[in-house]
Amino acid sequence: MLRPIEWVGDTDGHLRLLDQTRLPATTEYIDCTDVDTVWHAIKRLSVRGAPAIGISAAYGCVIGARNNQLDEAIAHLRTSRPTAVNLFWALDRIAALKTTDPQRILDEAHAIADEDDAMCRSIGRHALALIDSLTAKAPDRPLRLITHCNAGKLATGGIGTATAAAYLAKEQGRDVTVYADETRPLLQGARLTAFELTDAGIDVRLICDGAASEVLRAGAVDAAIVGADRIAANGDTANKVGTCGLASLARHHGIPFLVAAPHSTFDLNTATGNAIPIEERAAEEVTEGFGTRTAPPDVRVFNPAFDITPANLITAIVTDQGVIRPVSEAAVRDHLAVDTEP
Ligand code: MRU
Repeated sequence: MLRPIEWVGDTDGHLRLLDQTRLPATTEYIDCTDVDTVWHAIKRLSVRGAPAIGISAAYGCVIGARNNQLDEAIAHLRTSRPTAVNLFWALDRIAALKTTDPQRILDEAHAIADEDDAMCRSIGRHALALIDSLTAKAPDRPLRLITHCNAGKLATGGIGTATAAAYLAKEQGRDVTVYADETRPLLQGARLTAFELTDAGIDVRLICDGAASEVLRAGAVDAAIVGADRIAANGDTANKVGTCGLASLARHHGIPFLVAAPHSTFDLNTATGNAIPIEERAAEEVTEGFGTRTAPPDVRVFNPAFDITPANLITAIVTDQGVIRPVSEAAVRDHLAVDTEP
């Protein structure tokens, strides 16, 4: 499988990012030798997905420190995208080192990446056990899921968050089917999730976002599972726009709706989803995505990149530490009070 993020070399090296805007047609890498190139790669979604953004920013700090501009690098990278809290979490973690030594910062960036890898597997174990128990299924039965956007290998340092249960079930020899919402307007589900799951030999059914209701009504999946960009203290969750619609449908059809995220995605300083900043992106993503004009020239557009799923629509949040269920502020705070360092 293609590696979304790689640090090439030692402290004099550079950050190599897979340009995800070109997938699945073209495999192209961006070699980042200055902080601004990292900033642009995050901004234009060449690297995307909350954990991957955090990891990339941490590596960007190595370049900043090397040029004696660590504080400037941290301040600049903080402005790249507003919603995924993993970005700020990773930059705060670098700042907390209180050093400008590029080697020490590179070690920390590697640690952030390695920990994310471990957290993904842990999330997968907890998620698979939860799904089997919620659906009262024998552990060797087929696993049938629906997901939105891409919270997979391409979005993390490991096997993904929302996709982790599917990868682990596949490793165990189980039959796995994942319905992937195409995810308007930038098609992360079609271009990225369908791509990486197919690469892993997992049976993928790509659907238009609007077809999710029909999939759920037909009883074709056991659970819906998505990633998160930021989880507020009360469990309200920001994720790719369209997630709340899927959660509402899952509630309507009596299907468990699960959010899978590492502890770096929680923001206890944000009380509820209403306080989470939602990125608004260019109108052209909607009116002429991928180069074809599909709307009248003067139409006004609203293009939020994320939405908020209220905690009461979430059956459970699965983290690297276990399961939060039911989802409430007390349960979230309790869960994170344990030592979350792997
Ligand atoms: O705009 P994107 O592609 O960065 O949005 C990504 C998502 O919404 C993911 O679901 C989320 O970041 C979790 S990734 C493990």
